[in-house]
Amino acid sequence: MTKLYKAGILGTGSCLPQRKLTNAELEDIVETSDEWIVKRTGIRERRIIDNDMPLAKLAVRAAENAIHDAGIPREEIELIIGATLTPDYLCPTLACSVQKELGLKGVPAFDMNAACTGFVYALNTAQQYIENGAYKYILIVAAEALSRVTDYQDRKTCVLFGDGAGAAVVGRVEDGTGIMGYVTGAHGELGHNLTIPCLYSTEEDLAKRNEGKKQVVWMDGSEVFTFAARIMAEATLRVVTDARLSVGDLDYIFPHQANARIIQNAVKRMRYPIEKVYSNLERTGNISAASIPVCLDEASKAGMLKKGDRIVLVAFGGGLTYGALLLCWSR
Ligand code: COA
Repeated sequence: MTKLYKAGILGTGSCLPQRKLTNAELEDIVETSDEWIVKRTGIRERRIIDNDMPLAKLAVRAAENAIHDAGIPREEIELIIGATLTPDYLCPTLACSVQKELGLKGVPAFDMNAACTGFVYALNTAQQYIENGAYKYILIVAAEALSRVTDYQDRKTCVLFGDGAGAAVVGRVEDGTGIMGYVTGAHGELGHNLTIPCLYSTEEDLAKRNEGKKQVVWMDGSEVFTFAARIMAEATLRVVTDARLSVGDLDYIFPHQANARIIQNAVKRMRYPIEKVYSNLERTGNISAASIPVCLDEASKAGMLKKGDRIVLVAFGGGLTYGALLLCWSR
C-alpha cells in the first residue's frame, strides 16, 4: 500500500473525574482489604464519575485539551473517532456527542469498541486515513465510565475499575518519526472470559451475576491474566522485531493499566527494565480504552517524552483483543 504521509500524535489531553474511590472506602462496601488490593493489583484508588454527569462531558474536556496541545484550530479536525465500551447512549455515539459539543458540525464521527485495546485500535485506524492522505487531522477520544457497568458487590471485579477520558490529535508528521509499525489481533473464541451483556444475555450470563444485575462485568480473572501477560509480551516483541529493532531500543513502554502484576509479568517475559514502563494504575485503576491516552498525556505534560523517543503502546482487553503500536515521538 502506498503511504503518502507519516502519521503521528500531534497533541494529547485527558480528564479524570474529581471523585476518588479509595481502597479504604471499598473495604466498607465488600469483603476486601487495602492490603489485598495493593498486593494483588497495585491499585490504591480510582476516579468515579458523578451519577448526573454524562461521559461525553469528560470526553469533551479531554478532547479540548488535546486540540489545544496540538496547537491547531479545532475547525481543522476532519474526523472524530470515539473509543469506548461504556457510551452514554448506543446512539448518538460518544463521537457524535463530542462533535456536537465542539461545534464541529458535519465532521464524520463514529465510535469503535475494542474494549481496553480501544485506543490502540483507534490510533491504528486513524493512521490509515492520515497515511493515505484522506484527512490531515483526526481527533481520537477514548473515554470510559466503567463504574456504570461494575457490580460493587463483586469483589473480584469492583476493586479493579475506574473512570476517565484521554484524547489525541493525530496528523501528518516528519519522515522518520510517527507510527513505525503495528500488531493487532483478536481471539473471539476467548471472549467468554470477560463479558458485559448489553441488549441480549443468556441464562449462563445471568447465572454468573448477582441477582438482578445484567449489564455488569463478569470476568474469569486468572484466564484473562494469563492471556494478558503473554500477549502483551508477544505483541511488543513482534512490533519491534518487524521494525528491525529490539526492546533494548525502546525509551518507554506504555502498557494498558489493568494490574501491576500483569505488567511486571509481561515485562519480565520481554526482558525489559520495569523502570522504563509508564504506570499510573495506583491512582486510576483500569480505565479501559482511556488508560493509554491518559498515561501518554501525563508523560508528555511531565516532559518525559522528547522528539525521537521510541515508544510502544501495548494493550489487551475484552474480545479478547490486543494490539501494539511502535511510535517515534514526533513533538
Ligand atoms: N479482596 C479480597 N480477596 C479477594 C478479592 C478481593 N477484592 N478478590 C478475590 N479475592 C479472593 C478470591 O476469592 C480467592 O479466594 P479463595 O482462594 O478463598 O477462593 C483469592 O482471593 C485468590 O483469588 P484469585 O482470583 O486467584 O486472585 P488473583 O491473584 O488471580 O487476582 C485478579 C485476581 C482479578 C486481580 C487477577 O486475576 C487479575 O488481575 N486478572 C486480570 C483482570 C483484568 O485485567 N481484567 C481486565 C482486562 S482489560
